[in-house]
Amino acid sequence: MIALGSDHVGIELKRSVMELLKEKGIDFRDYGTYTEERCNYPEYALSAAKAVQSGECERGILCCGTGVGISIAANKVKGIRCVCCSDPYSALLSREHNDTNMLAMGSRVVGADLAKMIVDAWLGGVFEGGRHAVRVAQIAEIETTGTIKMEISL
Ligand code: RB5
Repeated sequence: MIALGSDHVGIELKRSVMELLKEKGIDFRDYGTYTEERCNYPEYALSAAKAVQSGECERGILCCGTGVGISIAANKVKGIRCVCCSDPYSALLSREHNDTNMLAMGSRVVGADLAKMIVDAWLGGVFEGGRHAVRVAQIAEIETTGTIKMEISL
């Protein structure tokens, strides 16, 4: 199950993502916004991110004008690693190296077709673990303790 969220600027791009998910037979839940009326993106970032945090949804996809604001907001939720990106390569690597559990894109930055390629790449990426797992664990340590005490051997 994929959690979806957007603001009014990202809603059309979110609809394109929904189309792709339907084509691929992937279930999703839309946490809003549901209309073109002006709204504040952090509220929808929070709802979708909480769904991922709780395990209700495995991953989430967010859209706003640039993808920036909504990703920053999602990344404030503990356990969320949201990548804001506009190319399939970064989307894939964000899964393989950073174990991202949310993806954010900007409707003013990417068109529908590119967004679909980004989503495809991101959904297909598998976390490689190993040395990357140590780094992701360090990110979690910063989140929990505000610093890094964990020793790493490279
Ligand atoms: C809304 O005007 C716009 O600021 C928002 O969609 C997003 O781009 C924020 O990062």
